[in-house]
Amino acid sequence: GTLMAEEAKKLAAYAAVDTHIQNNQVVGVGSGSTIVYAVDRLAERVRQEKLNIVCVPTSFQARQLILQHGLTLSDLERHPELDVAIDGADEVDAALTLIKGGGGCLTQEKIVAGCAKHFIVIADYRKDSKALGQQWKKGVPVEVIPMAYVPVSRAIARRFGGEAVLRMAVSKAGPVVTDNSNFILDWKFEHAQKWKEVNTAIKMIPGVVETGLFVGMAERVYFGMEDGSV
Ligand code: A5P
Repeated sequence: GTLMAEEAKKLAAYAAVDTHIQNNQVVGVGSGSTIVYAVDRLAERVRQEKLNIVCVPTSFQARQLILQHGLTLSDLERHPELDVAIDGADEVDAALTLIKGGGGCLTQEKIVAGCAKHFIVIADYRKDSKALGQQWKKGVPVEVIPMAYVPVSRAIARRFGGEAVLRMAVSKAGPVVTDNSNFILDWKFEHAQKWKEVNTAIKMIPGVVETGLFVGMAERVYFGMEDGSV
């Protein structure tokens, strides 16, 4: 039979942790549902092999995961240089350009990934995409300063087409508020773009904090596949 996505996430997470984690490392811990399996495996290895590992979170969720698993929590003030960062992704293309931020944690994720010598991505087969936007129609998340969400949304649509919509909360009235007290615009683009240039141009719009485009950052991606391979 074919593997469920959850089992595929776990396969990818375990493979990445077993390949890239060694004793005495500072490790960036990503956000989302796939990273949960990676932290499970990391905690198991720390216990079994008595590893000395320091963890830097990319979100409130990651911080809680680290604490719940009894791992050592740190931050970029004490550990600005990471050996490796592991994180999920919403979509990955053939050039290893990523869309991230489905969980709204893109800014801290990009900061932490940028501080790591190696940035490793873990995902199930559904995230593997020939061209960004083909797989999922959720668009590119952009974190914005709240007062700027309308001008930023209009500027993105005017320059790059499509529309950038304010992400609304599910079980509360009003917009999603990020861990940095900002809003998220989901830019639903109509056609493929030069992602490096688009990323830079969107970042230059006043009020933009960060984009969910990760260009030239991922060193390796582990996909858990439907046939049980990685
Ligand atoms: C969080 O903001 C995102 O960037 C996640 O890393 C991404 O959405 C992957 O999440 P899943 O592992 O749940 O697919």
